[in-house]
Amino acid sequence: MSTILITGGAGFVGSCLALGLRDQYEDARIIAFDNLKRRGSELNIARLRGARIDFLHGDIRNPEDLEAVGKVDLIIECSAEPSVLSGYGGSPAYVVNTNLNGSINCFELARKYGAGVIFLSTSRVYPFAAINDLPYLEEATRFSLDPVQTRSGVSPKGINENFSLEGPRSLYGATKLCSELILQEYQDMYGVSAIVNRCGVIAGPWQMGKVDQGVVVLWVARHVYGGRLDYIGFGGHGKQVRDMLHIEDLLQLILYEIERLDQLTGRLFNVGGGTEVSASLLELTDLCRKVTGNTIKIGSVPEDRPADIRLYITDNTRVTQCTGWRPKRNVGTILEDIHKWIVDNREALRSILA
Ligand SMILES: NC(=O)c1ccc[n+]([C@@H]2O[C@H](COP(=O)([O-])OP(=O)(O)OC[C@H]3O[C@@H](n4cnc5c(N)ncnc54)[C@H](O)[C@@H]3O)[C@@H](O)[C@H]2O)c1
Repeated sequence: MSTILITGGAGFVGSCLALGLRDQYEDARIIAFDNLKRRGSELNIARLRGARIDFLHGDIRNPEDLEAVGKVDLIIECSAEPSVLSGYGGSPAYVVNTNLNGSINCFELARKYGAGVIFLSTSRVYPFAAINDLPYLEEATRFSLDPVQTRSGVSPKGINENFSLEGPRSLYGATKLCSELILQEYQDMYGVSAIVNRCGVIAGPWQMGKVDQGVVVLWVARHVYGGRLDYIGFGGHGKQVRDMLHIEDLLQLILYEIERLDQLTGRLFNVGGGTEVSASLLELTDLCRKVTGNTIKIGSVPEDRPADIRLYITDNTRVTQCTGWRPKRNVGTILEDIHKWIVDNREALRSILA
């Protein structure tokens, strides 16, 4: 791996992967390519440059910007409009042009230079109605999957890669799924080595959490700086559940995938924290109070937001069987690491997170 391009390289996932790869591949040229659309990504530029990572300001929607990068051996595609709410109530242009057309531009660069591709996809490719139709239990602090599940692709362990793809899933999920399909064709038709990771919620330091994306950081940040939080949807009681994956756990998987790209090419994995690393919003609040020592008032909005889901738990069986990887960090560690990062950078982050 002499040249690695990380698109969205100044974003949360991209910058953390770039810095992690720097330690592993000391002699490689690592390029972080980003248009700085996400507020806060600019804070990562100094960190990247300090680690001998080349920052290139460019836009994946422009093939010319990508061509200017030159020859690369591996592309880790982390650039995106990552909000599930993008396009609702407005134009779909940005999310479609970036998450679909822009991704194809990245695959084209890979085709041109025979580079491999690791694509960061999302659990949001699975349709929200099918997820919300799953039998569930309402427990004291959370919703959980009913142990009896009859649909294909779901079990008490969570949702696996065989879950239904029928039905709407948001433009975010749809553009990601379309890109996965195109990448599959690039693999079959042009021999581009490719791995797709469908990730659930990823969390950790350097995620610029906001109301529509990055909920774990948003929750910790509000407990640090103050400000409003609401339990939105599903009755407004905060029982909706997500699994969470510490960014360092994701890094370990990506490092493994890079080393075995030839063996794993064509594979598609659901990747997430699984049942052991999951929390409801209510549980997250409790943990945030303990970690930060602060209590804030949390409002309630019973109506659901568009495309929202009651619960999502990743079944990691396939990825664990193929790679031996499994997440190691629990919810407590995720929250403590985020809290430490915010406290250590309290003033620099205030205008973005507060
Ligand atoms: N964070 C999560 O919980 C999560 C979960 C599942 C999948 N993912 C996927 O992981 C990838 C990274 O997400 P993230 O959490 O780091 O988001 P992020 O917003 O922190 O990072 C994305 C980066 O892409 C950049 N970008 C946006 N449009 C661009 C364009 N047209 N050209 C170049 N750069 C552009 C942004 O400026 C930002 O720095 C995305 O593909 C996302 O869909 C994230």
